[in-house]
Parts: sequence; structure tokens; C-alpha cells
Amino acid sequence: MVEPPPNWSVDSNQNFFFKDIQMESLSRPSLFDFYGVCMTKYFTDNWDNIQNFKAGPDDIVLASYPKAGNTWVSYILDLLYFGQTSPERQGSVPLHERVPFLEIQIPGFPSGVDALNELSTFPRIIKTHLPVQFLPKSFWEQNSKIIYVARNAKDTAVSYFHFDRMNKAQPEPGNWESFLQRFMEGKMVFGSWYEHVRGWWEKKQSSSNILYLFYEDLIEDIEQELGRICSFLGLSPTTELKKQVTEKVLFDSMKTNKMVNGSTDEVFDFKISPFMRKGRVGDWKNHFTVQQDEQFNEDYEKKMKNTDLLFRTVL
Ligand code: PPS
Repeated sequence: MVEPPPNWSVDSNQNFFFKDIQMESLSRPSLFDFYGVCMTKYFTDNWDNIQNFKAGPDDIVLASYPKAGNTWVSYILDLLYFGQTSPERQGSVPLHERVPFLEIQIPGFPSGVDALNELSTFPRIIKTHLPVQFLPKSFWEQNSKIIYVARNAKDTAVSYFHFDRMNKAQPEPGNWESFLQRFMEGKMVFGSWYEHVRGWWEKKQSSSNILYLFYEDLIEDIEQELGRICSFLGLSPTTELKKQVTEKVLFDSMKTNKMVNGSTDEVFDFKISPFMRKGRVGDWKNHFTVQQDEQFNEDYEKKMKNTDLLFRTVL
């Protein structure tokens, strides 16, 4: 393997790219309104290329609001498609390179669009946090299969808070009290949780190409959910592969697997919090005060009325 020159890095396809910023100086971005959704420059700077992205007929989109379990389902899909045919990539290619993040564009790193266009494995599994109205139109034209993962608002807020503490490419989270207030107001990167989960849920009602999964169901019965994923994708894995997948995607196995636990991601500061943090339903109880819970529930009722979309906050 050829070593990159100083200040250059190499990705798993052996492409060199110039690291034009030092990670220490990566600035935390500010939030701004972007067509009605709060976003940061790291997800909007490449907007034209994102919107003009050319989907292929076999592409599989894995969409979610941040912290809903996207990495978990990415790994499930990667193992289902490539666990047996390309076992070597399991130990050498970080998951974020196998499942590129469509809208990401952080200086010094390949953009999600470029990474996707350079992928040499098919089908492409594509991570996105875009709200439904922002998904590039070619995915709809190609009738791409889309898996959406949703997680209850309270655990999502807690997970997002710790993520923003440790991710240098996210806005400063402030304290928990103020973060929770902003979560309720939709002032988060990728906007309002309420609008995100509802937007995709409503789209799913008229599209058979969307499978809507819940984090809580994955926690409760991974085998059942694996079965739903496989039947949606038209896959019939062997019993042995199914067993392999369910073992490898256990929280504890993923937490110690350097290729999937976020430890190769240079924008994360593990001294503050790990990426694979708790992986539970109900951790919100360790964060919400009684008063915060009451206020949150009251606000939730208003925002989520007129929908049959139901979440479980305890199992
Ligand atoms: S991101 O950064 O927005 O893409 O994050 P995302 O991957 O969507 O969500 C991260 C949370 O998912 C948890 N996770 C898991 N939970 C249970 N089992 C498995 N295998 C698993 N893999 C990831 C991860 O720990 C984050 O949740 P918290 O509550 O912070 O632990």
C-alpha cells in the first residue's frame, strides 16, 4: 500500500485527498434556516450535487432522523449484502465508507456524493438524514427501495445531546435544559424530529417502496425485524447468515468493532462520549426531570395530534 504524503490522507479505494484543515481547528457550525429546515453548512454546501445525484435502479436508501439507529441498520444491510461475498471489507473498511452519507461535505474529507459515485460495490447502500421533501428526485424516479428508521423522541433527544457534545462538526449543544427546549422547537440539525418522522410516515402511506422501521422494535426482536428487512428487499439469507448478522449487530459486538463503532471518524471526540453510547430504550429517564417530562408530553400531544404514528418510550 502506498503511503500518502504529509497532509494527505487515503481512503479505502486508495484515493488520496488533501486534508486542508487540521481537525483541531474544525469549527463548530452554526444553524440556519434552509428552505424551512434548520441545517448547517456541512450538509448544504454541496446542495446542487446532492439534488442532482443520479440514483441507480439498485440503490437502497437508509433514511432516518439523526440518532435513530441508522448505523445499526447500515451494518445489518452491509452484512446481508456483503458479509459473505466480501468478508475482507469487514475488517478493513470503516462502515461510513461502505455506506456513504449522501449529504455530508466536510472540508478535508471526500463528500458523500463523491464517495457514492466512487463506490465499486453494488447495491449501493446510502445513508441520509434528509427530511422527505429534500430527498433527490432521482430516487423517486428510479423507484429506489427506501428504509426509514424512527426512534422515540425522548431517547432521540438524549442521544442527540451526547452526540453534539462529542462531534466537532455539530453545533455546540449547550446544557441539557436548553438543548431539550431547542429539540422541541425543531432547532436541530435536520430540523424538527416531529416533522421528520411524520413527513416520512405520510409518504410511506402512498409508497410501497418505503419500509418504516422502529428502533424500539429492533431492540425488542431483532430476528423479526431482520425478517421484515429481508422480505422487503427480496433477500433469502441462509440460516447461517442470519445467525451471523444477528450476532454481529448486537450492541456489545458493535461497540467493540472499530470498523463500525465510530472510532475511525476523526470528527468524534471519544474522550467526551462514545458513539455507541447506551443503545437502550428508556435512557431518557436518566435525563428528563419530572417537570421536563410533563412539559415535553404536553407539547408532544399538540405536535403529534392527527397522526396514527405511535412510538414506545419504554419496553
Ligand atoms: S447518527 O450519527 O445520526 O447516524 O446515529 P445513528 O446511528 O442513527 O444512532 C446512534 C444511536 O443508535 C445506537 N445504536 C444501537 N443501539 C442498539 N443496538 C445497536 N446495535 C446499535 N447500534 C447503534 C447508538 O448507541 C446510538 O444511541 P445511544 O442512545 O446514543 O446509545
